Amino acid sequence: MIGIFDSGFGGLTVFKEIKRALPKYDYIYLGDSLRSPYGGRTQETIHQFTQQAVDFLFKQGCQLVILACNTASSEALRKLQQEWLPAHHPERRILGVIRPLAEEAIKASRFGRIGVVGTKATVQSKAYEKELKHLKKEVKVYQQSAPLLVPLIEEGWLDKPETRMIIKKYLRPLKDAQIDSLILGCTHYPLLMKEFKRIAGKRVNVLNAPKIVADKLVDYLNRHPEIENKLTRNGQIKYLTTNSPEHFDELGSKFLGSPIKSAKVAL
Ligand code: DGL
Repeated sequence: MIGIFDSGFGGLTVFKEIKRALPKYDYIYLGDSLRSPYGGRTQETIHQFTQQAVDFLFKQGCQLVILACNTASSEALRKLQQEWLPAHHPERRILGVIRPLAEEAIKASRFGRIGVVGTKATVQSKAYEKELKHLKKEVKVYQQSAPLLVPLIEEGWLDKPETRMIIKKYLRPLKDAQIDSLILGCTHYPLLMKEFKRIAGKRVNVLNAPKIVADKLVDYLNRHPEIENKLTRNGQIKYLTTNSPEHFDELGSKFLGSPIKSAKVAL
């Protein structure tokens, strides 16, 4: 089984592409909606919540867990991989979204000027900046936190002029810095992809994050048969939430693009 973890239902944008690319595997999607959003929380809290969620998914039988959440990937992944995993589950794996997106951004960037938008925690962690510079030292990275977008998207304000105005305001400093590529470093933002593209302008390459993460997972499984061999293949999907399943099903189906029937769990 493959576990997909997100702070809530935003990660369904990523899962939508993963299940399209790899339909034969069994999945558990876990959204910690009760404690979401993570984006304004401290590193310590994000780490603690993410560890609890991954532990839960391992206990359900997941061999591999993908942190679809940018905030959890930024603030918790490295420490979990380096300290917790070797001590408690040395044979299992946790992957995040930062590395795949950074790799693609470096490939896509023509002039080495890359913009990143995300939650406050993601931006403060500098996870994207560190990864991008690790891959290519001379790259210039311009970050912008966009905390108003998650609530607007969850309210369904996708086509509102107010939302467009706020995106414009957030992208202004990045456009002034003449970025050539833009990483949408948050699970929710792909729902505003059209607006981001229009406002960023033709010269900016806005990366399709969910598709990139899914493609990189296909590649990872090809390169790691020792993990791939352990995955069950019945095409079954379970959706779990830590809050009201009704709310999760209603909003989640918009993010996933198809109906959901979730169950409630406690972490
Ligand atoms: N899933 C989070 C992310 O990708 C956004 C929502 C939150 O702040 O929890 O950063």
